[in-house]
Amino acid sequence: MPVLVTGLQPTAEIHLGNYLGAIRSWTVLQRRTESFFFLADLHALTTAPEPEKLRAHTLDCAAMLLACGIDPNFAHIFVQSQVHGHTDLAWFLSCWTSLGQLERMTQFKDKAARREDGFVGAGLLYYPVLMAADILLYGANLVPVGEDQRQHLELTRDLAIRFNGAHPDTFPVPEPFYPENCARVMSLQNPTAKMSKSDPNRAGVLFLSDDDGTIRKKIRSAVTDSGRELRSGPDKPGISNLLQILAALTEEPVAQLERRYGDSSYGEFKGAVAEAAVAAIGPIREKYFALKCQRDYLLDVLAEGRRATQARADVTLAAVRDRLGLL
Ligand code: AMP
Ligand code: TRP
Repeated sequence: MPVLVTGLQPTAEIHLGNYLGAIRSWTVLQRRTESFFFLADLHALTTAPEPEKLRAHTLDCAAMLLACGIDPNFAHIFVQSQVHGHTDLAWFLSCWTSLGQLERMTQFKDKAARREDGFVGAGLLYYPVLMAADILLYGANLVPVGEDQRQHLELTRDLAIRFNGAHPDTFPVPEPFYPENCARVMSLQNPTAKMSKSDPNRAGVLFLSDDDGTIRKKIRSAVTDSGRELRSGPDKPGISNLLQILAALTEEPVAQLERRYGDSSYGEFKGAVAEAAVAAIGPIREKYFALKCQRDYLLDVLAEGRRATQARADVTLAAVRDRLGLL
């Protein structure tokens, strides 16, 4: 079976962008691959989270992955920092990574520019190398992610190819997998920026834990564009985003939705988007709150994931150490 690896940062609650852009496709792919899903808490450290919040979010995100349909009977679910080897391999790979390529990463440039106190930790620069290590440690063939991770995946492929050039057949070269629609869900309040966990404006982000009233309210107050035409296009980022969200939720093509809602007002159209979101998020939210109370069960799932995963990481690490000449 092909090996699938992907991760999610437990920096905050999971939102609709994470679900439509990533997790939903993971639930399908887990049945056709050997899947490794992990909570990227080491990556989350680059945002300097409060320790208690990081701990709580890590467990909550595990509950949410299960609520979304990730199934421990099919997949390995674990916490990145609990498996030894991610940081070791990241160090080895960093010696094969060009500083220029890291400095050119748009995510690094964006995040560095947004640091309010002006402090840019080296971890932020190093972030994509750790991500490459996460992927190569398990010999991934397939990495399903949202569009925002494209550059990081390219770096991972470059590193695998460069390393294999010196040490043949060490790593499979992984293929990215982007969901067909909704690889990039935008903020409801600022439709030119992606919906993001770190957005301080919570009104722009639909969390999977939001209640029905909050979902309806957030969609009703989503920023739309001037004019009345209901169509997608670069001049209409707000309506395009809502159309894309509705298309992903109902699995109906955007063009068909444009025809169906062509004569509707923005208000009527938003009502339809809100009901589709309530129908999709409601059952996930119920499962999530039920699982959130089962702390011991969640810890057991993560312990089992760690056990199975550690054995795999050890094999790769031993091979890489050997090839590098470490005693
Ligand atoms: P993160 O929230 O950065 O840990 O992302 C977890 C997964 O969700 C990754 O595969 C991202 O590419 C994906 N993702 C995050 N934000 C969005 C978004 N606004 N639209 C689509 N996919 C997203
Ligand atoms: N950087 C990814 C994100 O923010 C999370 C992540 C960390 C990841 N390691 C990974 C995704 C390895 C895929 C594979 O979305």
